[in-house]
Amino acid sequence: MSPVAFSQAVLEWYDRHGRKDLPWQQDMTPYRVWVSEIMLQQTQVATVIPYYQRFMQALPSVQALAEAPADEVLHLWTGLGYYSRARNLHKAAQTVVEQFDGVFPASVEGLTQLPGIGPSTAGAIASLSMGLRAPILDGNVKRVLARYHAVEGWPGERAVHDRLWGMAERYTPTERVNHYTQAMMDLGATLCTRSKPSCLVCPLQVGCEARQLGEPTRYPNARPRKVLPVRQCVMPMLVNPDGDIWLERRPDSGLWGGLWCPPQLDDLMGLEQLFERLGWHSEAPQVLEPLRHTFSHFHLDIQPLVVRVEPGHAVTEAGQVWYNLRQPTRLGLAAPVKKLLKRAELII
Ligand code: ADE
Ligand code: SF4
Repeated sequence: MSPVAFSQAVLEWYDRHGRKDLPWQQDMTPYRVWVSEIMLQQTQVATVIPYYQRFMQALPSVQALAEAPADEVLHLWTGLGYYSRARNLHKAAQTVVEQFDGVFPASVEGLTQLPGIGPSTAGAIASLSMGLRAPILDGNVKRVLARYHAVEGWPGERAVHDRLWGMAERYTPTERVNHYTQAMMDLGATLCTRSKPSCLVCPLQVGCEARQLGEPTRYPNARPRKVLPVRQCVMPMLVNPDGDIWLERRPDSGLWGGLWCPPQLDDLMGLEQLFERLGWHSEAPQVLEPLRHTFSHFHLDIQPLVVRVEPGHAVTEAGQVWYNLRQPTRLGLAAPVKKLLKRAELII
């Protein structure tokens, strides 16, 4: 198919079957589209929707986001994972307000200068909310294009990725680029799915090489397999006589940056050192069932403990709180920490 025929087929499909009622498709502004695209980078639409609605209610404008405390932004992100997305979102909002008077740059180049916005996300914001002709290449579009042209190789490799970009650029039309962009994402999400593509009702079936080869799911080729290393830690939930749990704010950079967490120790010996540092007395720890959390590059096996303590002094330092489970403060928690706090609540 020629690029014009390709985009026409996609647009006709969009008119009949594309999604038009997603929350970020209503009242489309660069701010609303940007927040949705960042949330959707590593998270499914169904999961994102309630987070998106809460986020927009709490922070309806780029000014509101720029002025919000970091803890509030991370609180709204709690459970979505990949928290650097939230930290970058916050930084980018401050840049837009301070340097651009609250108006998003109206070009892919300008948008990619902001933290957390790569070429594909910039393309999505530019095409969806500004009507600019800008290609995108998110996971869904990669899959559609890799199948359409039976592209060999893993898209994480530069050469494969560049080839797919070339295709994305060639097929992006000059008219109705907003609908085309949404249509390509929808096609990947609803029709050309990872394990069960519905080729028989696909608008691209005529030219699709993967379908002709009879093996659409072979594309795009999977990442070469690597065994993830396992790291271990002990996570003591220190409970004071009021039933509150001790949390510390993690440094801004690194794993779970800016989130609140019980102390993370290498082993049980760390526990004694912790009490020496805090100058507290404690009872023997209660051992909870271990929990595995998988990051992109390793597994973390967490040994949770509940330890009742008699704090010798009140909390005065910034970055430390007694977290009240019944009246929780608005701050960011990593998903496994949230889970552990729930478990602790049942036994304290
Ligand atoms: N994934 C990324 N962007 C999306 C959008 N605008 N709609 C649906 N899924 C998406
Ligand atoms: Fe995907 Fe099948 Fe359509 Fe090809 S024909 S783009 S494999 S759904």
